[in-house]
Amino acid sequence: MNFAVFASGNGSNLQAIIDALGQGAIKGSLGLVLSDKADAYALTRARQAGVEHVVFLDPRDFASRTAFDAAVVEILKERQIELVVLAGFMRILSPVLVRAYAGRIINIHPALLPAFKGAHAVRDALAAGVATTGVTVHFVDEEVDHGPVIAQVSVPVLEGDTLASLAARIHAAEHVLYPDVINRVLQGTLDVPAQDACA
Ligand code: GRF
Repeated sequence: MNFAVFASGNGSNLQAIIDALGQGAIKGSLGLVLSDKADAYALTRARQAGVEHVVFLDPRDFASRTAFDAAVVEILKERQIELVVLAGFMRILSPVLVRAYAGRIINIHPALLPAFKGAHAVRDALAAGVATTGVTVHFVDEEVDHGPVIAQVSVPVLEGDTLASLAARIHAAEHVLYPDVINRVLQGTLDVPAQDACA
């Protein structure tokens, strides 16, 4: 199965996916890496890995979110992408994209959803003083950080943790969880209760 990764930043999750493909731990083909940021290091990682289609789409070239997402759908169809993997893609998807790929877009979030939605989940968990946070992989629906949960892992918050130390522990958990979930989605071996949406 041909899948795409969308990333806006560093792309450490993309790297974990590329490494897993190299090791045969993900059986599928990474047909496209797309970013909305010209300087995303994820783009460099994709080019270095020899991904065939590496695309930067500048949001400033589009009149609206819908127009941007319509262009994304065109590219996905052109490249015959069957699954979209969001890995630090910092844009809210509009219905034109979510509906075109309903049930075929997954996201990773650095918290145990529905706790700590939003762009600052690690910082918010640390500030809240919780003893445990974690990582969630979920199907994407039309709400932000919302949709049926596929998998979650817990990550402890340790005494004296800083944002950097906690973020590093969460990233390490992500790099194990995401490739495994992606492979299971691609193989169709997931057991996801469809109504298990996180509220
Ligand atoms: C990850 O923490 C992910 O959970 C969140 O964005 C971050 C992306 O990190 N959605 P990276 O670019 O993969 O290093």
